[in-house]
Amino acid sequence: MAENIKGLKRTCRVAEINSNNIGEEVTLMGWVQNYRNLGSLLFIDLRDVSGICQIYFGEDCEEALKSKAATLRKEFVIAVKGVVQKRGGAVNPNLKTGEIEVKVSELRILSKSETPPFAIEENSDANEALRLKYRYLDLRRADMKENLILRHRVAKSARDYYDANGFLEIETPMLTKSTPEGARDYLVPSRVHPNKFYALPQSPQQYKQLLMLSSMDRYIQIVKCFRDEDLRADRQPEFTQIDLEMSFVDEDDVMSINEGFIKHLFKDVMDMEVKTPFLRLPYSEAMDRFGSDKPDLRFGMELCDLSEVLKNSEFNVFASAINNGGSVRCIKVDGKEDGTQSLSRKEIDALTEFVKTYGAKGLAYMIVDAEGVRSSVLKFLKEDEIKGMLEKTDAKAGDILLIVADKNSVVYDSLGALRCHVAAKLGIINKDEFNFLWVVDFPLFEYDEEEGRFAAKHHPFTSPKDDDIELLDSDPEKVRAKAYDMVLNGCEVGGGSIRIFDTELQQKMFEKLGFTKEQAWAQFGHLMEAFKYGTPPHGGMAYGLDRLVMLLAKKDSIRDVIAFPKVQNASELMTDAPNLVDDKQLNELYIKCVKPE
Ligand code: AMO
Ligand code: AMP
Repeated sequence: MAENIKGLKRTCRVAEINSNNIGEEVTLMGWVQNYRNLGSLLFIDLRDVSGICQIYFGEDCEEALKSKAATLRKEFVIAVKGVVQKRGGAVNPNLKTGEIEVKVSELRILSKSETPPFAIEENSDANEALRLKYRYLDLRRADMKENLILRHRVAKSARDYYDANGFLEIETPMLTKSTPEGARDYLVPSRVHPNKFYALPQSPQQYKQLLMLSSMDRYIQIVKCFRDEDLRADRQPEFTQIDLEMSFVDEDDVMSINEGFIKHLFKDVMDMEVKTPFLRLPYSEAMDRFGSDKPDLRFGMELCDLSEVLKNSEFNVFASAINNGGSVRCIKVDGKEDGTQSLSRKEIDALTEFVKTYGAKGLAYMIVDAEGVRSSVLKFLKEDEIKGMLEKTDAKAGDILLIVADKNSVVYDSLGALRCHVAAKLGIINKDEFNFLWVVDFPLFEYDEEEGRFAAKHHPFTSPKDDDIELLDSDPEKVRAKAYDMVLNGCEVGGGSIRIFDTELQQKMFEKLGFTKEQAWAQFGHLMEAFKYGTPPHGGMAYGLDRLVMLLAKKDSIRDVIAFPKVQNASELMTDAPNLVDDKQLNELYIKCVKPE
């Protein structure tokens, strides 16, 4: 039977003792990280959430105690009593407790451990599926623990900052009404209302607006959101927002209070100065220069439009792209200092496959040498076109042009992604830089080709720019929104907008999005009705907390900063959710399952 802690009281966490405690008797509890049995001496690295402390069983220790200590294995949970001493061996500068050790006089084995399925070590190379199945073990590793501690500090820093600026944290419901807003909803069947469903919130958007109507003035909530969409490294089906809303504000007010938050956060958590205000880049310029509405500005390699140079080209691929309203654009990969290329032919071929995943039909290249130009499309191009391309891109010996011709959305997507991919591959990104900017002046609508109608680029509650309201009917694609995204190192860490606060304009917006008046009132009547009773102008934004912490922790996936994340197919490997449920449970909910084809 395991021993217990009766009669023992833990003095502190293991890494909270130091040379000031030398001579004191302490009681410590934790896990065996490592053991070294030297025969007469036995050393243990004792670990808990605070770190590691070395304890030892000396030459003069009782036989019974020593033989008990010899049974200790990795991950056993123990309690020890002993005296803090100056380290007998060399000081370990990598440990907070590196100058001391504890000489043990009493040992209790509180819980034994089987050999863990992977080593509990920092930067483990165990495969992720195994780590997620045994997530509780994975979280014992120092780097994962640090990520969760960082996450806690970011959340706390947010609460402190917004509290100091008059924001109230108010909870909003998790069981809500399903409304068509963006992503697919997660639905929850109601037992009390047969055949009816709640939806888990994609965000508290409508509730926080209604709180502004309730005169709460400033709201903040650190809140779970649920979206049934395809997962990626920076997307989870349930994720956390730092969500906020403010009354009597315009775009500048929201952006500046949030620049203040980032400044506060970086000082508080990272001990770093962030310069404000951030650059504000109009959406159209972001697309034109970087092929992305979340551009990474830590490096150059901007897109260059070759359409003007190639407008009379006889090469069908280029000509048809331009004539159909698309374009031919490229990025220039600088050569090395000695005038040779940074990418081999083989690497360029691999990039061709890369851009195809973004819908590009091909990737033309142009390699510039001292002797001239080598290119996959040389035979299709006229002398002056080649000259024009080199001039336009300012290409010199060693440089490579990577060219995509297509409709603009494909050109932007593929070259925007290629730009980041090549920069990462060439190692030209400064990993220590935190580069913030706002992307502003988004279009209000985007055309959904599948559905054959306009969709809201941000969400249907976003206000058009005052100057553009008159274009709503005549030229909806030209209408710009009072929306802003905060971008950090090529990742959208947050976004928001100034909202519509007028029933009529909101109704018009729904009409533009293809709702009949009846449909709009059935879905969103609560909001439009509310607007009739005195509505303050309001706006806000939400940060993806997971993304923000991921970037601060310099990780590539938000899974690394979420205690119990889901994998690609939205399952959780530790508990095996989602799972089948009893027929009895289904019957109570009036649900019959249909086998998938
Ligand atoms: P939006 O949909 O842009 O805006 O979401 C805000 C921020 O949340 C993060 N995010 C995600 N993070 C992880 N996994 C996901 N699936 C995921 N989806 C979004 C992003 C994003 O910038 N109600 C509005 C905000 C507002 O207008 O105030 C909203 O939810 O970092
Ligand atoms: P093809 O005539 O299809 O063999 O294409 C000739 C060259 O043009 C190849 O090097 C292709 O990679 C390139 N190419 C084809 N389609 C495109 C495109 N949409 N954009 C850029 N280059 C392309």
